[in-house]
Amino acid sequence: MADGKLWGGRFAEGTAASVEAYTESQSFDRALAEVDVRGSQAHARMLARQGVLTADEAEAIVAGLEQVLGEIARGEFVWRREREDVHMNVEARLTELIGPLGGKLHTGRSRNDQVALDFRLHVRARLAHWRALAARLVAVLAERAQEHRETLLPGCTHFQPAQPVSLAQHLLAYAQMFMRDHARAGDCLGRADVCPLGAAALAGTTYPLDPRAVADELGMAGVFANSMDAVSDRDFVIEAVFTASLCMAHLSRLCEELIIWANPRFGFVTLPDAYSTGSSIMPQKKNPDVCELMRGKTGRVYGALTALLTLVKGLPLTYNRDMQEDKEPFFDADRTVSASLAIMADMLAAMRFNPGPMREALSQGFLNATELADYLVGKGLPFREAHHVTGACVGYAEAKGLRLEDMSLAELQGFSPLIGQDAFEALRYETAVARRQASGGIGPGPVARQIDDVRAWLAQAGAE
Ligand code: ARG
Repeated sequence: MADGKLWGGRFAEGTAASVEAYTESQSFDRALAEVDVRGSQAHARMLARQGVLTADEAEAIVAGLEQVLGEIARGEFVWRREREDVHMNVEARLTELIGPLGGKLHTGRSRNDQVALDFRLHVRARLAHWRALAARLVAVLAERAQEHRETLLPGCTHFQPAQPVSLAQHLLAYAQMFMRDHARAGDCLGRADVCPLGAAALAGTTYPLDPRAVADELGMAGVFANSMDAVSDRDFVIEAVFTASLCMAHLSRLCEELIIWANPRFGFVTLPDAYSTGSSIMPQKKNPDVCELMRGKTGRVYGALTALLTLVKGLPLTYNRDMQEDKEPFFDADRTVSASLAIMADMLAAMRFNPGPMREALSQGFLNATELADYLVGKGLPFREAHHVTGACVGYAEAKGLRLEDMSLAELQGFSPLIGQDAFEALRYETAVARRQASGGIGPGPVARQIDDVRAWLAQAGAE
């Protein structure tokens, strides 16, 4: 057998060193060691129940695997590159520990269904972790929204001042995004939660395996329906990284806003010292590096998604070694999205929002123009005409360097005799917000209901 490789029976010559380095995956797939062992233990127990192994054999294998896992956990395990991947490192060590019996573990199994199982278990666990992180971020957003129900700031479209909104509504918009990410990760988790063990290399096996029992032992909801699909399907990885990508897009948008809000021209937020950095040359600087890096790291998660989609696009059925390239993009995306979600939650919890500058900013950009138009509609003017009259008022005020509320009643009446003293009440920013009482709107009533709904969602998410 060439170099003692587990698959070396038909090989006369050893592998070239460069090829060994090129093809190995143990340097990164060792992250799957624990799930690999759990899957193997479930497989061994099932083989015994089905009469393929004796109970004693299965017990010795299960105990030996536990010992291997202990060595790995304690850092005593010697990883060997020539053993290629996590699966063969674990199995070869098992055989060193318990002798030739170790060789019976792989009965009725292939690395193809083994790696698919390992990765499904891993992705499933990480999706559950992302969900917990997303829920925590939603909780922080809801808390900050509760604090700032009365804080008003300019809402924008086209990044131009549009209408006054409450900071609560703005923050809760992000809560909605992360609630969807949470749900998306849940959907995707359901599809990852399918046990492929028993598909073997591609065509199943002649041993009387019991895939349902293995799935049950591993707490997996589903069992593969088609052996060829089971070993070649990587949809669950791609979906997970898409979920991470969209979540990063949401984080990146929030980062972009925080970067703008932290600019002294806005001054809407003061970044916590612990989440910002200084400049090595300009002593006055406090830079939003965390937000910038998060925005930048979004690109690498998209890169992982592109890598994975490209990886599978030309693969004929079933397993192809290309698929080994599915691990590192996932690991990288996982590290990035996990850290980003956690840091965003901590940073938002510590962030100072500045109601003063937000309130001041309302006086620029005629944010209450819609209110004057609606006021005129209330006095019986058709909306199009009201829009026109208000536009003329805005033109006049702008030329004079006034806000609408700075104009005198006589000046306003010059544009429409329908305007009375009560127009000034309608022009107040607080009034503009308070009047928007329809469900989902920015008024205090709908915002309070939204916060209640988000809290109910959190209780539900926490109970899952
Ligand atoms: N290291 C491999 C991977 O990650 C494990 C499966 C190898 N299977 C095979 N037939 N060579 O995909």
